Amino acid sequence: MSLLDKAAANARILTRRELATLLEWPDAHELFAAAYEVKCREIGKRVSLRGLVEFGNICEKDCFYCGIRKSNTAVRRYRMDKDEIVREAEWAFKAGYGSVVLQSGELSSESNTVFVEDVLRRIHAFGGDDFGITISLGEQAEETYRRWREAGAHRYLLRIETSNPTLYARLHPADHSWTDRLECLRTLRRCGYQTGSGVMSGLPGQTTEDLAADIEFFAAEDLDMIGMGPYIPHKDTPLGKNTALSPAERAKRLELGLRMIAATRLHLHDVNIAAATALQALDHEGREKGILAGANVIMPNVTDIRFRSDYQLYEGKPCLGENPVLCKGCIERRITSIGETAVLNGRGDSPRWEKRTSAAKHASIG
Ligand code: 5AD
Ligand code: FES
Repeated sequence: MSLLDKAAANARILTRRELATLLEWPDAHELFAAAYEVKCREIGKRVSLRGLVEFGNICEKDCFYCGIRKSNTAVRRYRMDKDEIVREAEWAFKAGYGSVVLQSGELSSESNTVFVEDVLRRIHAFGGDDFGITISLGEQAEETYRRWREAGAHRYLLRIETSNPTLYARLHPADHSWTDRLECLRTLRRCGYQTGSGVMSGLPGQTTEDLAADIEFFAAEDLDMIGMGPYIPHKDTPLGKNTALSPAERAKRLELGLRMIAATRLHLHDVNIAAATALQALDHEGREKGILAGANVIMPNVTDIRFRSDYQLYEGKPCLGENPVLCKGCIERRITSIGETAVLNGRGDSPRWEKRTSAAKHASIG
């Protein structure tokens, strides 16, 4: 039995060595096809859509790779008001996106906590329990996570960025702690969120062994959702200055991002995996390629174009001038063009999470 068949037949049994072998599989198309088959079997030929609202770029963090890091003075900072955020979420709801994702720079003040709580209550009031609310607002105190959960959020995305603490330390200032971040992920699970995490691939100094260990990390933490993307240098950051990518390097980075998606699908089977926008920044069909390598979630941007260009974590962000209506038509056409169906009006919860919660319910009844 080939390693691809073995992985497709049995979830979560591969060793780190075998994961590394998958990541370096000589025929990339064979790898992607095997992962896509597992995606179709576990999830169907369906892609869940989440409307993404990037509601502010003011950030307390200073990650060496990120375009909106606090020390980047070239960025025009913005923060939408509550009405604007709710209006964009409502647009996503009416457009039939089953979920919204609210993302911003990381802020830890009480006033920010209250601001987000209000927004969540207002979105939950019109969307009800059938409209998914995912938030991606960084490292916070347990109390904050709880308040946001009670106000209506039920999924949280917090990328660990790399499972290797030494590599993490090289990519962040000394006061950014890998261990604290891991603790946040565990707290989110305890607070009842469907919990998502992920990494960047193609980071300087990162090895295939590191990426294989990242996939082991996803399994060990039993994550519900995975969001991963290629690292793309940003010229106004310490890590990205003087590193313009040649077309050949872009293609290599895209392929590595797709290999990570495929190997993750082949190992974990039943989680939600996003085809990140960073894939599309490298190739205008990057997200479709992500789906065909095993991803099942796409997050079309519903942020008003007045704000989009100020939320650039990396260079070459796509769709800067496309309003949400254009993006909706475009993404649905792209999904149909690869023989998949866009799921409208469904939360698109992670099958992994559904299994875990129904097992817990049965245990409490039994
Ligand atoms: N390239 C790719 N992804 C990036 N992110 C931040 N900066 C970059 C970059 N230069 C990702 C991080 C973060 C997410 C919101 O965006 O993984 O968690
Ligand atoms: Fe924005 Fe295609 S998704 S224009």
